[in-house]
Amino acid sequence: MITKPKGTYDLMGLDAKIYTYINHEIENFMANYNYDLIRTPIFEASELYHRSVGETSDIVTKETYDFKDRGDRSMTLRPEGTAGVVRSVIENKLYGNKNDCIKLYYNGTMYRYERPQSGRNREFTQFGVEVFNSADPMIDAEVISIGYNLLNSLGIDNVTVAINSLGDKISRKNYTEALVKYLTPYINELCDDCKKRFNSNPLRILDCKIDKNNDILKNVPKISDYLSKESKERFDKLKMLLTNLDIDYEIDEKIVRGLDYYDENVWEYITTDNGITLGGGGRYNSLVENLGGPNLPAVGFALGIERIILELKNKINISNLQNNIDVYIMSVNEEEKMQSIILAQNLRLNNVITEMNSNNLSLKSQFKIADSLNAKFLVILNSEDLNKGLINVKDNATKEEMKIDESEIVDWILGNI
Ligand code: HAM
Repeated sequence: MITKPKGTYDLMGLDAKIYTYINHEIENFMANYNYDLIRTPIFEASELYHRSVGETSDIVTKETYDFKDRGDRSMTLRPEGTAGVVRSVIENKLYGNKNDCIKLYYNGTMYRYERPQSGRNREFTQFGVEVFNSADPMIDAEVISIGYNLLNSLGIDNVTVAINSLGDKISRKNYTEALVKYLTPYINELCDDCKKRFNSNPLRILDCKIDKNNDILKNVPKISDYLSKESKERFDKLKMLLTNLDIDYEIDEKIVRGLDYYDENVWEYITTDNGITLGGGGRYNSLVENLGGPNLPAVGFALGIERIILELKNKINISNLQNNIDVYIMSVNEEEKMQSIILAQNLRLNNVITEMNSNNLSLKSQFKIADSLNAKFLVILNSEDLNKGLINVKDNATKEEMKIDESEIVDWILGNI
């Protein structure tokens, strides 16, 4: 038997229903917020991720799926969505109308060669939002609110937004220097990853999972003491806006994010009961320029759909997601079956959710199936009535039966469901 690759999964059953429900909600949300869908390739030139996510990031050093195509070009399966969107904005010059914000969203599979565990897969799905051409924290607040409100409207109300500011270039430079100075005497007491990061990307030491309870890391200098006046103002404005929008947030100076492109305000959506990170994002004001585009400030986030599905499985009222149909059409002989498929098409084309017997099932089995699908009406075809131009309908709740003229059946159903 050929089995699925490690870290991948087959979406089906209840998970597939929850997935469809989430996608439906995403589409409604993004229409209300007036964001446009963007779909970029699942693979891109490897260089794109080296130059955006960062040479020293975990993703690029140990998690990408890289391959040479048949033309000997280095390609990478996308580990995240932001880099591809930025590449597309630049390549398609979406910034043509420089007065306005460019507001985009995406929803697709990403690939990271990670150690699989609950909520951590090698193929996973992200819903993400990216906004270009405004440095105003008002947009940070709007973008944060999309993720927060979406999670809430899906039924995940145990979420807080952990926010931090990484500051502008100067703030980060000053803070990194202070951090390195502070850590220098202790670095040999920290884990191997921290030792590596000490040279390559000291800020990442702050979100080390191994040493997080170590006093050395608990007592690091505070990034907020190193923010420039402007960065501090931007962070303060964001906090005020989040308060006004009724968004539950907390400041967490350990949030530094695992991708190198961030600056200024960053955040993560975290469940309050079990501390699971459902998503994260932040500003990346230099990335567009670093990838060869104009100076275009930007901000965005992504949510992990699999983690949301896991979270919803404990919360959702599953009966709301079960197949509830309007009509089940019952038939036994060939003539009835022939009529059944024609009527089913007519009803379906009129937005009536319809199922029919397309097997050689006994009437008893068909009644059972109709009940399991919560059919509102049963259409019980029988040759005798059909020959008189009549169709038997049974209201499955009241059990009342009636005969309707064949030519009026669709209108009758439409008027009664
Ligand atoms: P990220 O924090 O790497 O950010 O990923 C965002 C979310 O994707 C995570 O919080 C998690 O829910 C989900 N995720 C990440 N890796 C996995 C995995 N292996 N299995 C399942 N879920 C996973 C980014 O990717 C940034 N591009 C977000 C962003 C957009 N920043 C600005 N714009």
